Amino acid sequence: MRILVTGKNGQVGRSIQKIVNTETKIDNNQSPNDFIFVGREELNLSSESSISHYFDNNKFDIIINCAAYTQVDRAEQEVELASQINHLAVKHLASIANKQQARLIHISTDYVFDGESIKPYLETDTPNPINAYGRTKLAGEKALQTLMPMNALVIRASWLYSEYDNNFVSTMLKLGREQDELRVVSDQMGSPTYASDLADAILEIIKHKKFRDVGQTTQIYHYSGEGEISWHEFAKEIFKIEKIECEVNPVTSQQYPTPAKRPRNTLMKKDKIVKVFNIKISNWKSSLNTFMAILKQKQ
Ligand SMILES: NC(=O)c1ccc[n+]([C@@H]2O[C@H](COP(=O)([O-])OP(=O)(O)OC[C@H]3O[C@@H](n4cnc5c(N)ncnc54)[C@H](OP(=O)(O)O)[C@@H]3O)[C@@H](O)[C@H]2O)c1
Repeated sequence: MRILVTGKNGQVGRSIQKIVNTETKIDNNQSPNDFIFVGREELNLSSESSISHYFDNNKFDIIINCAAYTQVDRAEQEVELASQINHLAVKHLASIANKQQARLIHISTDYVFDGESIKPYLETDTPNPINAYGRTKLAGEKALQTLMPMNALVIRASWLYSEYDNNFVSTMLKLGREQDELRVVSDQMGSPTYASDLADAILEIIKHKKFRDVGQTTQIYHYSGEGEISWHEFAKEIFKIEKIECEVNPVTSQQYPTPAKRPRNTLMKKDKIVKVFNIKISNWKSSLNTFMAILKQKQ
């Protein structure tokens, strides 16, 4: 099995790499899977020729695309670049995966939804992105489904955080230690996802018989932590666990304008991924506690 993971320096890419490295050590280098992790130096997704050239010389059984343009606010200004990476590169990857008869796992986002639903989103609900990032990610999903009606899988995640990179948790920890008071948005609801949990889920999926059987129709799955909170509640819990004395004041999205509009409520139903692949979903709070404990060990 040759398995390619793109986005090796990103939150999900690094989390997969960490688990694979740990497992391989346990197995004393006996792992039958041959994982190859690449970043933009090896495979630049904003360049068609870089993509073609890379795959001319490399063949895979599974491609896991963790790379993306993820700067939600900046995407409003850099639509073309975001589209190149989140849409056109995904289209290109899907056509290459087809040619190579590789399975493709692609990560997408809850931001394909407008957030106006009063119920948790199902995979079958109609997306309606309200920002440029969401539109480029949705275009990527659609291109993938058109070019690869079989043998691919899209996993929509939400509110990712990890010990890597800048994310909401790392930002809150930094600001909370510097300031006595913070304003955090309380009218956007969703489910935080610890990137390591998502990485575990992806690795479980590729081991699963249902994934290994070829000739399956391409499917979308939702994945995130269990439970629903606002960014404000999330910040309060982070400070509570870390015993950081910083007051968190709730503000509305209107009082905290950003270049890109954010959906109000992107809670997603995860029953499908649980049922099909037997994936366990942790409550957001228990994952946050696990994450904080890991962070402490590193300090
Ligand atoms: N972050 C979230 O809250 C969130 C929420 C829902 C869904 N998602 C989705 O989950 C997936 C993983 O997100 P993440 O948080 O792990 O992202 P991330 O930490 O921002 O990592 C994305 C990776 O993509 C790479 N990349 C960007 N442009 C590239 C290019 N032109 N060529 C090759 N690689 C390129 C980046 O490389 P460099 O390190 O070199 O910049 C980075 O390592 C993405 O599909 C994202 O859309 C994210």
